[in-house]
Amino acid sequence: MPTLRLGDIAPDFEQDSTHGRLRFHEWLGDSWGVLFSHPADFTPVCTTELGRTAQLKSEFAKRGVKAIALSVDTLDSHSRWVPDIEQTQGTTVEFPILADADRKVSQLYDLIHPNASATATVRSLFVIDPAKKVRLIITYPASTGRNFDEILRVIDSLQLTDSHSVATPVDWQPGQRVVILPSLQDPEVLKAKFPQGFEAVRPYLRLTTLPGQAA
Ligand code: BEZ
Repeated sequence: MPTLRLGDIAPDFEQDSTHGRLRFHEWLGDSWGVLFSHPADFTPVCTTELGRTAQLKSEFAKRGVKAIALSVDTLDSHSRWVPDIEQTQGTTVEFPILADADRKVSQLYDLIHPNASATATVRSLFVIDPAKKVRLIITYPASTGRNFDEILRVIDSLQLTDSHSVATPVDWQPGQRVVILPSLQDPEVLKAKFPQGFEAVRPYLRLTTLPGQAA
């Protein structure tokens, strides 16, 4: 299987999960998706990451995003771990956790990096859009928990790119000024898309505030 890259169609699969047998593309439907792997059940960093994902349920829902976790642990292990996550992180885990004991999904998504660990999945995360295209890939080491505020920030940026033809500059936060895609040059199109106007710092660096989104 070649390495998965941005813009590729996220591989479809059928696998067991804490929500039953699941067909990935069918489960995604028209939603955005966040598929993320963790090294192992009953480990401290993973417990906090899955707890945080559960706590962010309404933030994911607001953005039309479904979350799904994965490790190579068994369904029985996941089922025994979920109450621990809920008790220690003060939340309810309502998203599915894939039980990839046969490594089917891990192979499709290249989640085992043998020089890091021969057996455990790395901390990878994929954002998948409604067309099933991979829009973000990150991979973190087992010892570093991911920043889920950053993941929401990237989803916000991607969704603005799709809806408003803008990109987001360094350290951007929702509500701050965005940049107009350099591919947009036609003055009539610019006027129609950005009636509020923009500041052209350079011909290629044009900043605008999206209506209703000022910080
Ligand atoms: C953890 O989730 O806490 C963890 C897993 C593997 C290695 C180090 C930490």
